Amino acid sequence: SIDQKVEELLQKMTLEEKIGQLNQYTGDNTVTGPLTINPNKQQEIKEGKIGSMLNVIGAKYTRQYQELAMQSRLKIPLLFGLDVIHGHKTTFPIPLAEAASWDLSAMELSARVAATEAAASGIHWTFAPMVDVSRDPRWGRVMEGAGEDTYLGSRIAFARVKGFQGTKLGDLNSVMACAKHFVAYGAAVGGRDYNSVDMSDRMLWETYLPPFKASVDAGVATFMNSFNDLNGIPATANRYIQRDILKGKWNFQGFVVSDWGSIGEMIAHGYCKDSKEAAEKAILAGSDMDMESNAYRYNLAQLVAENKVPVSVIDEAVKRILRKKFELGLFDDPFRYCNTERQNKALNNPENAKIAREVAAKSIVLLKNEQKVLPLSKEIKTIAFIGPMVKPKRINHGFWAVDLKDVDSTYIVSQWEGLQNKIGKKAKLLYARGCGVEDMSKAGFEEAIQVANQADVVVVSIGERWNMSGEAKSRSNLSIPGVQEDLVKELQKTGKPIVVLINAGRPLIFNWTADNMPTILYTWWLGSEAGNAIADVLFGDYNPSGKLPMSFPREEGQIPIYYNHFNTGRPSINEDKVYKSAYIDLPNSPKFPFGYGLSYSYFTYSDLKLSKKKIKSNETIEVTLNITNTGSFAGEEVVQLYLRDQVGSVVRPIIELKDFQKIKLAKGETKTISFTIDNEKLSFYNSALEFASEPGSFDLMIGSSSADIRLSDTFELIP
Ligand code: IFM
Repeated sequence: SIDQKVEELLQKMTLEEKIGQLNQYTGDNTVTGPLTINPNKQQEIKEGKIGSMLNVIGAKYTRQYQELAMQSRLKIPLLFGLDVIHGHKTTFPIPLAEAASWDLSAMELSARVAATEAAASGIHWTFAPMVDVSRDPRWGRVMEGAGEDTYLGSRIAFARVKGFQGTKLGDLNSVMACAKHFVAYGAAVGGRDYNSVDMSDRMLWETYLPPFKASVDAGVATFMNSFNDLNGIPATANRYIQRDILKGKWNFQGFVVSDWGSIGEMIAHGYCKDSKEAAEKAILAGSDMDMESNAYRYNLAQLVAENKVPVSVIDEAVKRILRKKFELGLFDDPFRYCNTERQNKALNNPENAKIAREVAAKSIVLLKNEQKVLPLSKEIKTIAFIGPMVKPKRINHGFWAVDLKDVDSTYIVSQWEGLQNKIGKKAKLLYARGCGVEDMSKAGFEEAIQVANQADVVVVSIGERWNMSGEAKSRSNLSIPGVQEDLVKELQKTGKPIVVLINAGRPLIFNWTADNMPTILYTWWLGSEAGNAIADVLFGDYNPSGKLPMSFPREEGQIPIYYNHFNTGRPSINEDKVYKSAYIDLPNSPKFPFGYGLSYSYFTYSDLKLSKKKIKSNETIEVTLNITNTGSFAGEEVVQLYLRDQVGSVVRPIIELKDFQKIKLAKGETKTISFTIDNEKLSFYNSALEFASEPGSFDLMIGSSSADIRLSDTFELIP
C-alpha cells in the first residue's frame, strides 16, 4: 500500500532529507510574492534539500527541474505547484464572476479544463480554489473567491475541488487542489490585504469555516494557511485551526503549505523573535510545507537537536507530502506530467475555448434593461463600441492568470474582436477609446461623441483596470476610476440607445450610471473568450442568467455589507431612521442585492406547497413550486430558497440562503421544482457552539434574489 511505501522510504531518509521535503521555492520566471534570492536552488535540489517548486511552468521546464531531483540520493521527485486560479492557457471568468453563474457543473467543468491544461504543462498542484468568504469588496482578493455567502461558497468549493482533482489523483488530467487561505483571510480589517482578523468562534464556525469543510468533504489534497493573524495568533502558527480543527476534528489526511513567506512573516507580526522560533511554532502548529521562507530549511535540524521539535512531528509532515507524491504516480514515473507533445495537444484543444465562452456568458449579470434595448437586434446597421476596455486583449484574463512562456496571447478574444466576429459584414462597427482607465484627460470625448452620433446603438465598456483587484489590490474607493463615468454622461447626451458594460474584479460603486443609464451588464473579467461571450449576450444568443454573489454597496461607508445580517433590536423598517439602526445619509440596503440579476425573459413563481407544516428533527419537508417563463425568450432562472429561524438561543440572520436550483425554461414553459428541507438546513452553531437545530417557527422564502422574495410560508420544528 502507499502507506507502506511511504514508511519504507521514510526509514531510508536522513533528517536533512526529511527536512528537504518540507521546503518549497519559487522558480525563476513568475513571481507571486516578495522575492528572496536563493542562488543555490539547483544545487539544493540535487542534494535532496527541496521537496517542491512553485512557478515553474511547462513540460519542458518542469522536466529540467525534475532531472535535477533525479540526481539526488533517494531520487524523490519534486512537486510542481502553480496558481491555476481560473484557467491555465484557456482562461475562464475570474472565480467571483464564475460564482455569479450559480452553475455548479459549469464551475466543475472549468476547473476540469484548467486541470487538464495545467497537468499537461507539468503542473501537479494548483493553489486553488480560494474558498474565503468575504463581505468586503475593498479587499482585492474577493475576485478569487465565491463571494459573501457561506452556503453558496461551500457548494462552489466542493464543485471546484472535484473539478481540479477529477476522479482520482494520479489520473493524468488531474491536479491536486488546495483549499485556501485557512482561515478567515476574507475578514481582514478594513478590507486591507494581509491585515489582522478578530473574530468570534461562532462567526468562524458559522460563516468562514464551512467552505473549507466542504473542500475536505470533496477530498481536497492540500490546504494553504493564511497571512493574517486570527485573534492575535498568525494562522501559520495557529494550532487550534490547523491541528485541532483541520487535522483533528475533520481528519484531513493531506498536507498544509504555508502561504508565501508566511512563516518568516511571523517575525514582522511580532509573534516570533527570529526565523528559528517561527519555524518551531509553524511546524508544531501543523504547517507542513514552508513556501519561500527558508525557515524550515535552515532551522529545523537545530530545533530537533535541541529537542524543541520532535522528529515525529517532522516525520508526520514528510509522510503527508510523500503520500501525495505516491498518489500522483511520481515515484513510478517522475516525468509523467512532462510531455511536450501532450502539452501542445492540451493547450490547443478548440473544445476548451468553446467551454470558456459558455462559462463566460453564464457569468455575465444583467443589472438593468429598462428600455429593452437588449438583446440587440441583428438588423442593426451601425454600432459604436467605445471605451478603454474595448480593444486590449490581455486585460480580459483578469488577475491571477500566468503568462505562459512559449505561448503568445493572440488567442485571447478582445471585446472588439468578439463583436466583430458576431456581426461580420452585416453591420458597421465604429470605435473610439474615449478615455483611459485612470487618467483624467477628456481629450478623447469629442471623437467618442462623433462616433456615437453616427451609430444606431452605442456600447460603452468601462471599469477598473484588470490588476486593480487581486492580491495586494485593496481599494478604499470603489468608484469607476478616472473620467470614465463622465464619458458615459457625455454619451448619454447624444440620445442614442446605450449599453454600459462594467468590467471589474469586485463590486464597484457607480451610482450615476446605475441611476441614469437604463441598460447595464456587469461583465467582470471573463477570460480568454470574453469578447465572444459578451457578443453572445448582447445579441441574445445567450440570455443572461447570472446573479450577484456579493451585495453591491451604495457607498464604501456601508461596508461590510451582506444580505444575511441580524435584525438588531432596532431594525430600520421602510427606511425609518428615528432611533433605528440606520445611516442618516443612506438607506441600509445595497445598490444591488445578493442573488440579483435579470434575464431578457421573465419568470413567474407560483403554487408553493409544503408537504408538512410541522416536522420533527428526523423528518423532512418537501417544498414544491412552479416556475413559468412568461417572457419572450428561452432562458434560465436561479430559484433561491432562503430560511429564517424566528427565534434562537443565539440571534439568527433575517434571511439565509439554504438551497438553489438553476433551471432552463423555454418560452411559455412551466416547470415544477422541488427542494427538501432537512435538519441540516435548520441547524446552526448554538450558544454552546454545537451544530444543532432548535424547535420553533421558521420562515421559508423563495425568490429571484435575496431582496425579491416571490413566495413565502412558515413551518414549525417540533420537539
Ligand atoms: O497561492 C498564492 C497565495 O494565494 C498568495 N501568496 C502567493 C501564493 C503562491 O503564489
